[in-house]
Amino acid sequence: MDKKIIEKLVWAGMLAPTADNCQPFRFESGENALLVHFSYERARAFLDYNNLMSWLALGCLLTNIRIMARSLGYDFDEDLFPGTYSDNLVAILRIKKAPVYKSPLLPYLEKRCSNRSKARKFVMPEKDERALFESIAQNEHVQMDVLRQKKEVRFLAKQTSRFYPLLLEHQDVHEGIYRWVRWNQKEVETTRDGFYIHVLEFTRIVQILLRLSQAWRFSRFLTVFKLSKMVGYLIKRRYKRSSAFALLSISEDKPEAYVKAGRELEHIWLEANRRGYSIHPSVGVVSLALRVRLENGTGLTPSQIKLTKSMESKISNVFPAFSGRLPVFLLRFSKTGPPSARTPRLPVSQVLTFNEG
Ligand SMILES: Cc1cc2nc3c(=O)[nH]c(=O)nc-3n(C[C@H](O)[C@H](O)[C@H](O)COP(=O)(O)O)c2cc1C
Repeated sequence: MDKKIIEKLVWAGMLAPTADNCQPFRFESGENALLVHFSYERARAFLDYNNLMSWLALGCLLTNIRIMARSLGYDFDEDLFPGTYSDNLVAILRIKKAPVYKSPLLPYLEKRCSNRSKARKFVMPEKDERALFESIAQNEHVQMDVLRQKKEVRFLAKQTSRFYPLLLEHQDVHEGIYRWVRWNQKEVETTRDGFYIHVLEFTRIVQILLRLSQAWRFSRFLTVFKLSKMVGYLIKRRYKRSSAFALLSISEDKPEAYVKAGRELEHIWLEANRRGYSIHPSVGVVSLALRVRLENGTGLTPSQIKLTKSMESKISNVFPAFSGRLPVFLLRFSKTGPPSARTPRLPVSQVLTFNEG
């Protein structure tokens, strides 16, 4: 296959979101096939429970590659997790010719982003909810529930924000996040992964406090002054202005099911951005809930387990799928201006190997 085409497909895949912008996928081009490898070391994180985040991100990546491939007159059959776990080969895409289809989502591969900036108060109209529902392939495996009434949004803002103090209070969660924070433009440009502190949309003073909390000991020290609670409070205030919340849930605990959900997630994200909604994922509470449910809360203290169970039970009052099914992604929609910064991507040349043999 033409190298330029392969490069375009990989570029589209790289534009997909990954947790903390860790970009854990590498590509190898074979004869009429594109191999996707997973770099566990880049994705290693306490919140990436069971590789949930990584397999969701893989689904997002596959959606992007398909949209790009179709626009160029190609498509692919995919073979998920074809190798042994240890060889890190997570997908083989067997590329074939197909009729050209320029999806209206194509321009949004590049425009799509996470946007956490301050929202104007706006309740999502029913017609937008319906359009978003339609964008997700109707199947029994992946379900999306949306809540857009003011009262429900306020309730979810309160419940989901209870997770945030843990970012500063739990050492592994703290380490997992800080690993990817980039504090200045130079760091952003040299690493081209992770996220610039400005994308979190906090004021200067909060940014300074967060920088000081980079040292775990200092973070512990600041919790004495309730800094971690303050982060939760700021998040709650921000979340209350959301236009809607959505929960993606699946029916079985299998990597393939996570990938499937990721595929739908990217469709929703692209469609929402196309319709002028900003998206801000809030997945911490989901990851903790799964850890508690499927593994008795390993790595969490009894009070953190109690907090997680309480959040789960409250959120389930409005989203029954949160406990009735397997929740995998929680996100909020809002109407905002543009984000203060965008996350960069590694260059294609660094993540793609051409296999000439
Ligand atoms: C599986 C997954 C989980 C994520 N979880 C969160 C989250 O809990 N909070 C958050 O602010 N962003 C979250 N994000 C957004 C990523 O940080 C973001 O996609 C990444 O930094 C790339 O930025 P972009 O979306 O603007 O391209 C998540 C993204 C993915 C794919």
